Amino acid sequence: MSETIIILGANGQIGTELATSLRQKHGAENVITTDIKEPDFLDKGVVFYQQDVLDKQSVEELFKKHQPTQVYLMAAMLSATAENYPEKAWDLNMTSLLNVLDLAVKTKANKVFWPSSIGAFGPNSPKENTPQYCTMDPQTIYGISKLAGERLCEYYYNKHNLDIRSIRYPGLISWKTIPGGGTTDYAIDIYKEALEKGHYECFLSADTELPMLYMDDAVRATLQLMEAPAENIRIRSSYNLGGLSFAPKDIAKDIQKEIPGFQITYKKNDPRQIIADSWPKSIEDSYAQEDWGWKPEYPLSAITKIMLKNIGSKK
Ligand code: SER
Repeated sequence: MSETIIILGANGQIGTELATSLRQKHGAENVITTDIKEPDFLDKGVVFYQQDVLDKQSVEELFKKHQPTQVYLMAAMLSATAENYPEKAWDLNMTSLLNVLDLAVKTKANKVFWPSSIGAFGPNSPKENTPQYCTMDPQTIYGISKLAGERLCEYYYNKHNLDIRSIRYPGLISWKTIPGGGTTDYAIDIYKEALEKGHYECFLSADTELPMLYMDDAVRATLQLMEAPAENIRIRSSYNLGGLSFAPKDIAKDIQKEIPGFQITYKKNDPRQIIADSWPKSIEDSYAQEDWGWKPEYPLSAITKIMLKNIGSKK
């Protein structure tokens, strides 16, 4: 079947790379992208509309015009920024999801993807190998919106038989589009500063271990999940997705292998530390492995080499 795909929030960290992969797979003309901000440049053949995802009427018009078979809702405010604008974050993260779920049912879009996060876990979730099902008591407005969103997704599946699929992404490392306002962003900033200054002042402590993944793995996981037969999908809230697990001191050591003089220092009392301390250190993802064959490919050493090379040549 030929697909018509709509990506809402397509110019962010994940959306940008997801759009590229989906265009390669399904043809640029079949991937319709929107974002509140214009992209830095528009490649030939790219279909783009500047649109606010909260403007339900224009999203509805878009859905009616293009009759999507797949919708990806990637617009969101990340954890650290959301703490500064809780109402705005709640509105963006929740209202956009409610609108899309409702419109997907109305316009009979076959499949919807929505990203959840490790931020949906909290201090009473087990820290090591955090399982799919456990206590979830997120302390941030971002995490609360993700957990509520997961429940909404499952609700729409149960109530309306909507083929909704979701992943709890770990911190994502990428160089093409830099994220803004996340707690895991240090693992990107560090490469940039290592190249520019030979030094990085990290806002998380040396031992703060968090689950992480290279963007190519995350995009591949997303496409694998979306392409899996519906009967394989046991989880309609959101899948745990594991990969790497490391702390700032580990990534610093890895960078020192490539840039021997690199120095890292640690800032004290950054509000993001409290957020990171409430999140898992590592993730148990057997459902993703069993249901749709998930397996990460990029170890930290490979990520470090790729990041330094590409950020270096981007300057
Ligand atoms: N990477 C996100 C953040 O740090 C978590 O999903 O906010």
